Amino acid sequence: MSQPALNHLLLDEKENGIIVVTINRPDKLNALNGELLEELRSAFTYIEERSQIKATILTGSGDKAFVAGADIKELRELNRQTGEKLSSNGQQIFSFIEQSSKPVIALINGYALGGGAELAMACHIRIATENALIGLPEVSLGLIPGYGGTQRLPSLVGISKAMEMILTGSPVNAEEAERFGLVSSIHSSETVMEEAVNLAEKIIKNGPLAVHKAMQAVLASRPDHGFTKEAVLFGQLCETEDFKEGTSAFLEKRKAEFKNR
Ligand code: COA
Repeated sequence: MSQPALNHLLLDEKENGIIVVTINRPDKLNALNGELLEELRSAFTYIEERSQIKATILTGSGDKAFVAGADIKELRELNRQTGEKLSSNGQQIFSFIEQSSKPVIALINGYALGGGAELAMACHIRIATENALIGLPEVSLGLIPGYGGTQRLPSLVGISKAMEMILTGSPVNAEEAERFGLVSSIHSSETVMEEAVNLAEKIIKNGPLAVHKAMQAVLASRPDHGFTKEAVLFGQLCETEDFKEGTSAFLEKRKAEFKNR
């Protein structure tokens, strides 16, 4: 099978069974537009089907960002119905990555905000560079995380820290993320790829069936009943004036003035 045609993802398949997937939209800090989300689905379908691939390293191009979130320009156009649909579609793609039979390591090389943090949380292991900043700033746009962030973050850092991060919208730096269990290790940008490859190599030496079942067992420790609720609430917010104001303010590079309606 051949690699899918992709505009915003680079696939680098190594001989050792490791593939590096790079999100490549650096002029927008790798923000996830609709096309990019669908390309993630295609890339992970390809990875799942290709037996030569044993593990994936997912990262962002450039040294500034993993992914700076969902594309706010596209978000601004949403209404209740399309907002709920966008959220459940994004959830589905991220869950597809999480349910992959092969391990996915997120290499967080800078900003992982909003949808970027949610994408990293859907990966099986996260490692970070020293300049990583991870957060869910959606409330500053009059929104909530819609790609599973309200569900995955509490299972990683506990309810109190998750509430603090989601309600303030403030990101945590690499050291804090490691302390809270959001990333498992921190490395310099020079050595981080080598560390990710070492980690992947250690995993793929083991029995692939056992690795797959182990991931399924670990994931079964998290309750999954809140995803539908998250999408409904996300859709509800998409018809508020505060959401229009929050997203417009970002794009117009000004401070949002929320009116509670
Ligand atoms: N969606 C769409 N465009 C985005 C984006 C996003 N999530 N994040 C960054 N960009 C764009 C900017 O609009 C800018 O485009 P322009 O050059 O055409 O004006 C470009 O990427 C560079 O971003 P900029 O804001 O100029 O970089 P910065 O270094 O000053 O700030 C961030 C970096 C990450 C702090 C800032 O871009 C930011 O806050 N992004 C949004 C984060 C967010 O709220 N994500 C959640 C979305 S649900």
